Amino acid sequence: MSFSAVTGCTSGTPNNTTQDKTASHSGVNEKSGDETKSIDSDGKKTNADVIVVYFSCTGNTRTIAKTIQNELNADIYEIKAKNPYTEDDIKYYTDCRADREQKDPSARPEIAGDLPDISGYNIVFLGYPIWHGQAPKIVYTFLESVDMSGKLIIPFCTSGSSPIGSSATNLHPLTSDAKWKDGKRFAAEASKEEIQSWISGLDLQNIK
Ligand SMILES: Cc1cc2nc3c(=O)[nH]c(=O)nc-3n(C[C@H](O)[C@H](O)[C@H](O)COP(=O)(O)O)c2cc1C
Repeated sequence: MSFSAVTGCTSGTPNNTTQDKTASHSGVNEKSGDETKSIDSDGKKTNADVIVVYFSCTGNTRTIAKTIQNELNADIYEIKAKNPYTEDDIKYYTDCRADREQKDPSARPEIAGDLPDISGYNIVFLGYPIWHGQAPKIVYTFLESVDMSGKLIIPFCTSGSSPIGSSATNLHPLTSDAKWKDGKRFAAEASKEEIQSWISGLDLQNIK
């Protein structure tokens, strides 16, 4: 009997080793650098406190998330599954675990560890891979578990080729009293310049 390897997607225990500025799982968020954040003309920093929340199984979305984090001097939180996804779990079109979860409207995979305290943030970048045209169900779990009221949510995703499509708008009903920007799909190999250009176009300096 063989066991498939657990992907870098998740682990049962919090792993902050790849996260230099991580929103604490204990509820106390580490602030990233300069407390008197201000925006410059390139949109590099913001007065609003920003957190990047993401889910990633094979690392593509993580790379984009970390670039956004660095560009905005933001904090970051990785959504990790309590039951980590193995390689077999994400072999899509094989009726794998991920395939079944995406088909099941009631699937809400559990999140590992404590949820972040996002009360101090105004802007939440929310990143995920496209799974069968939609956000993975664990993103639904997150949005149903964390109070997003008053936040501006900016979705982004990675995919093999699919556009962001309805994946972000289908998340809107899971939050109440939150504002959503249109989302952006990136290829796994998206350049830093493409991400910078997208951030600049968001006009974050005019967001209260
Ligand atoms: C279960 C599953 C379903 C997927 N469905 C799609 C899809 O509908 N369209 C697409 O372009 N890519 C699809 N992909 C590919 C991923 O969106 C793509 O590899 C993504 O960049 C992975 O992000 P990650 O490395 O952050 O996990 C799917 C992958 C998995 C595991």
